Amino acid sequence: MSNSLWPDTAQVEGNSISLAGCDLGRLAVQYGTPLYVFDEKTIQQSFRAFRDGLDAYPGDSTIFYACKALLNTAIAQLLDREGAFFDVVSLNELLLLRHAGIDLRRMRLHGNGTPLNELYRAVNMGIGQIVLDNQAQIDAVATVADYVGRKQPVLIRLAPDITAGSHTHIQTGQKASKFGFNNARMAIKRVQAKPALQLQGLHAHLGSQIDDLTMLPQLIAFLHDTAASLDMPLQELCIGGGLAVATHPSGSTTDIAAYCKTVVTQMRQIFGSQLPHLSIEPGRSIVGRAGVALYKMVGCKTVDAHTSWLHLDGGMGDNIRPALYGARYHAAVVDRPRATPIHTYHLCGRYCESGDVLVKNMRLPAMQPGDVVAIPSAGAYTLSMASNYNGIGRPAVVLVRAGQHYLIQERETIADIIKRDRPLPENIRS
Ligand SMILES: Cc1ncc(COP(=O)(O)O)c(C=O)c1O
Repeated sequence: MSNSLWPDTAQVEGNSISLAGCDLGRLAVQYGTPLYVFDEKTIQQSFRAFRDGLDAYPGDSTIFYACKALLNTAIAQLLDREGAFFDVVSLNELLLLRHAGIDLRRMRLHGNGTPLNELYRAVNMGIGQIVLDNQAQIDAVATVADYVGRKQPVLIRLAPDITAGSHTHIQTGQKASKFGFNNARMAIKRVQAKPALQLQGLHAHLGSQIDDLTMLPQLIAFLHDTAASLDMPLQELCIGGGLAVATHPSGSTTDIAAYCKTVVTQMRQIFGSQLPHLSIEPGRSIVGRAGVALYKMVGCKTVDAHTSWLHLDGGMGDNIRPALYGARYHAAVVDRPRATPIHTYHLCGRYCESGDVLVKNMRLPAMQPGDVVAIPSAGAYTLSMASNYNGIGRPAVVLVRAGQHYLIQERETIADIIKRDRPLPENIRS
C-alpha cells in the first residue's frame, strides 16, 4: 500500500484497511459496491493547506473550488464551511450549490459554450462573476446584464500559449486550445466598450495534472505583462487550478504548500507593492486523494501465463479516466492488504467496451469472487464524469468522519434512470 495515494486517515490494521476508523470491507457490505468513500479530513486538510499557504499573500485572495472535480450537496456544504468560493460550469451546478445553501455571490461561472438561457439565469440570480471565454460570450453576457439591469462583474480568460499537463486532453493553456482568448487586446477593448460589464481582471488555466511549478512564474508574468502593455487596471488575477495528484505510485503530486509559496513569491516579485486580488481554482487537489472507490470482484478470465482479467462490478461508467486519458490507478484487497502478491491481474470493468480497464498489471494475492478491491486516489473527475452506460446506475457515496459514516449520495436506481423516458404514443405503437 503506497501511502501517498491514500487519504490522510487511511490505516492498515491486521487484515483491514480503514478510513477515519471505518473499515472499508464493512462499508462495502453495508452500502454495496461499487461504492465511493470520501474522507472528510483529507478534503478539509487539503483546503486548509491552500488557505494557510495563501495567508502569506499580502493582498486579498480567494480559493474557488472547481466543482467539476466532484460535486454533490454534502461536499459543497463541507467546503462552504471551510470558506470556499465555487467555480461552476453550468446552471445546474449553480442550482445544486444554491440548493446546498451557497450564496450566489460566492460563485463564478466558466465555460466556452454556455447557452444564453444559462447565462441569463446566472446573471439574473446575481452570480458573483462570469469568466468570459470568447467573443460571442462577451456580447451575450453584456446583452443579458443590460436586460436585467445589472452591472455584471467579469474576468477575461486568456490562452497564454504555455503548454502544461500530462495529456493533450487536459491541456488548456496553448493557443490552439478551444478555451480563452488569444487576442487579449481585442477582448479587453470589447469588454470595456460594454457598459453592462464590469471588468475585474484576467484569468488563465493551464490544464490539469501539472507538477512543474516553473510554469507559474511564466503564467503570472504573462498576465501581468498583458495587463500592463494594454494599460488595463488589474483588480484581480486568477491562475486557475491544475495541481497534479498521483493516482498510481509512478505518478507525482504537487505539494500544496510549495505551490502556494511559489505563487506568493512570484506575485510579490512581479507586482511589487501593487498586488491585485489573487484567485485560484483547485479541484483535483482538494478531493482527489480523499476518495477511495470500492469494487467487488465478480469473476476472472485467465488468458495466458501472464494475463488474467479480473472482472469488477464497476468500471468506466463510474471512472472514465483510464479510457479517456490513459490514467493509471493502483489497487489493494481490503481484507488482506499486506498479503504477498502472487499474480499479475488486469482489473477490468463490467461495461461492454474492451477499453474498460481500470488498472493494468496489478500484482495482487490470489483473488476469489466476492473479494473487495479498493482503488485509492479516485475522488476527482470520476463520479463527476459518471454515466448510465449499459443501464447501470451510478454508485453510492459515503463520507467518513471520526469513526462514523454518512450516506451522502444514494446509489442510482432503475427508477432514476427511466424517470426521463416517455412511452411511445398509443397511436404509433402498433
Ligand atoms: C478553468 C478551470 N479552472 C480550474 C480547473 C480545476 O482543475 P484541477 O481540478 O486540475 O485543479 C479546471 C479544470 O479543468 C478548469 O478548466
